[in-house]
Amino acid sequence: YKRITVKTLVDMKARGEKISMLTAYDYTMAKIVDGAGIDVILVGDSASNVMAGHETTLPITLDQMIYHASSVIRAIDRALVVVDLPFGSYQSDPKEALRSAIRIMKESGGHAVKLEGGKEIKESIKRILNAGIPVMGHLGLTPQSIYKFGTYTVRAKEEQEAADLIEDAKLLERIGCFAIVLEKIPAKLAQEVAESVSIPIIGIGAGNGVDGQVLVLHDMLGMTHEFHPRFLRRYMNLYEDMTNAISQYVEDVKAVDFPNDNEQY
Ligand code: KIV
Ligand code: NA
Repeated sequence: YKRITVKTLVDMKARGEKISMLTAYDYTMAKIVDGAGIDVILVGDSASNVMAGHETTLPITLDQMIYHASSVIRAIDRALVVVDLPFGSYQSDPKEALRSAIRIMKESGGHAVKLEGGKEIKESIKRILNAGIPVMGHLGLTPQSIYKFGTYTVRAKEEQEAADLIEDAKLLERIGCFAIVLEKIPAKLAQEVAESVSIPIIGIGAGNGVDGQVLVLHDMLGMTHEFHPRFLRRYMNLYEDMTNAISQYVEDVKAVDFPNDNEQY
């Protein structure tokens, strides 16, 4: 296995090879995802929803992100591991942002960090980059700002917001981000962004004119079943398969069918 680096990703864009990215939050799942050949694992703050059951990504703490990221890091041989800086760990000032990013790098062993936003957090991103920590940007629907948006609907449908988004993407490239996630924006705009910068654009709900795709692992495996946005392709129905397996186990225990003669000492 040759390890994926931030340089590998930029080279992939240059030669037109698409980048595959999925989330993971724990050792066992990350081991499977890495072994299956994913390019990038995102330890997303979606752990707040998927792992902890919160309604938004806002409550998850830096300590909790470090716990998830260190579990993922112990599992991987090849993938690049990007870790989300959680809400509240980087918005106050650039020094706090750098301190948070350093904690992630030192305490989890992650390879890069991701921050939501453009020009508002420019100084924070620069400071983190100056410390030698690679930064992935995140524009479009940025879930840490959900109370500002009010809804999880498609962003940047209006001209001004679209123009601002293109400006932010160019800014992130200029200051040195190695890639950008674009979440839930019109496919045409996402393609325009991908064509305007030379760093990879990874989309979620942003169409196929970008340089790679990311999904939340538990969503694409069909473990979460109350979430069905248009952009989500389910590759399994694990919710149903797991429910059936567990019901069968319950039945077997009740019927004293499990354990059988071969399953005991
Ligand atoms: O936290 C997350 O899962 C993310 C992806 C949706 C890009 O940020
Ligand atoms: Na996130």
